[in-house]
Amino acid sequence: MRKRFYIETVGCQMNELDSELVVAALQEAGYEQVFQRQQADIILFNTCSVRQHAEDKIYSALGRLKHLKEQKPGKVIGVLGCMAQKDQELILKRAPHVDLVVGPGQVARLPELLESLAQGKGPIMEVSLDRRGQPRQKVQASFLNPDRQNRPIVRPVKHQAFVRVMFGCDKFCTYCIVPKVRGPEQSRSPQEILEEVRQLADQGCVEITLLGQTVNSYRWQEPGRTIRLADLLQRVHEVPGIRRIRFVTNYPRDMSRELLQAVRDLPKVCPYLHVPAQSGSNAVLKRMKRGYTIEEYYEMLASIREIVPEAAITSDFIVGFCGETEEDFEQTVRLVEAARFKNSFIFKYSPRPGTKAYELFPDDVPDEVKRRRNNELLAIQNRISLEENQRFIGQTVEVLVEGPSKMAERQSEKNSSSIQLTGRTVCDRIVVFEGSADLAGQFVKVTIKEVSPVTLFGELSLARLDTHADRLGAPVSA
Ligand code: SAH
Ligand code: SF4
Ligand code: F3S
Repeated sequence: MRKRFYIETVGCQMNELDSELVVAALQEAGYEQVFQRQQADIILFNTCSVRQHAEDKIYSALGRLKHLKEQKPGKVIGVLGCMAQKDQELILKRAPHVDLVVGPGQVARLPELLESLAQGKGPIMEVSLDRRGQPRQKVQASFLNPDRQNRPIVRPVKHQAFVRVMFGCDKFCTYCIVPKVRGPEQSRSPQEILEEVRQLADQGCVEITLLGQTVNSYRWQEPGRTIRLADLLQRVHEVPGIRRIRFVTNYPRDMSRELLQAVRDLPKVCPYLHVPAQSGSNAVLKRMKRGYTIEEYYEMLASIREIVPEAAITSDFIVGFCGETEEDFEQTVRLVEAARFKNSFIFKYSPRPGTKAYELFPDDVPDEVKRRRNNELLAIQNRISLEENQRFIGQTVEVLVEGPSKMAERQSEKNSSSIQLTGRTVCDRIVVFEGSADLAGQFVKVTIKEVSPVTLFGELSLARLDTHADRLGAPVSA
């Protein structure tokens, strides 16, 4: 009988993509995916280390599996991804019933590692080299590229796909574990990226999201010239069949005018820019080693508004970073008020062993203060998001339909002709409306009737958009 595996994923889009690739590789190797832990012979967690909370969740899930493993020792329990790279032996110490610990730079080898386990060679730990005290080339080579075996056919949504343009990160913001667990920044070649995009387009994919921790730092040396993200966008734009191109996450200092001009001039490139600010205070930005001042961030916002006035801009913030005063926090509030982000992800600072901030600065903002600042900033952002969304009431927007909404998935009458669907506008706003399930993957027009801070609610407009392959994903409005 075919062995069955279950995989649970936390963390960012990089991890979602890695999990897709793992699923593809395991299916190819003859394993069957199941969606209930109880049915699986192999239980995998693709983990995240960015905040303590993400790790705690995995350790408690592992704890709950101890009993199962005692009863059924043949089950395989595997920890993949960033926490595997960060904690290594600690995982086997804290959860001795784990069979596999595989860092993000080694997940490409999973089928082979499962084979070794089956031959009784466990527990197995495969991680990449630590960045400290090793030559860069050697460390880079220890982070293997799982994209080469990309088998996009198993993507959860046929018409949308992530395409990685770079691995790792070299920015070393003092609070952040990502450069340690994902390794040195390495861009993929434009040829490799384009090949993947063409393959995806051939399979019916219409929306591509280019992924990188600092995607706009993309850099590839060709004879005589350097290819930057703006050049890459131009090339991806030429691929027939692709109608929307997004890219995340942007690093403020690398948001060049050339890139903004590319967003303005290439109609398939969505005017949606995620450029995390993290804080509005220069003192905090300096301790975070973000590499820009708040004045420079404001200047960057001004260039976006000048070159791509319709762009939806989003941000991330950390509140309660080491030494953050009330005055520092007020400056963050002022930034959120002034920038009018479409939305912001707000996090309470979580000290991460292995980072500079953990070594250098005490975590001196009490948790209740972090929580209050988090709630306060969120309330302000929600008010702004709602006001920005209200501009859409009465407008008709173009939506790429993703599929049934979460509510529709919970409802049993899935067979009824009209269900609640969800999709996104070109500026990444979520739109919910009633329609037939077979609209998934199509572009439709929706007239907006009501809004919340995160969602636009509307009605399908009767004029359905033509869907021939090369029509650009330009907004009707929005
Ligand atoms: N590469 C992206 C984001 C990486 S992590 C970038 O540079 O913006 C995603 C977000 O998690 C970060 O933007 C930051 O806001 C948050 N984050 C990272 N480390 C954190 C920590 N130690 N505590 C709380 N939030 C953190
Ligand atoms: Fe982390 Fe900074 Fe790199 Fe983003 S840019 S992944 S926050 S170190
Ligand atoms: Fe988490 Fe790793 Fe992404 S630490 S945020 S899953 S790169």
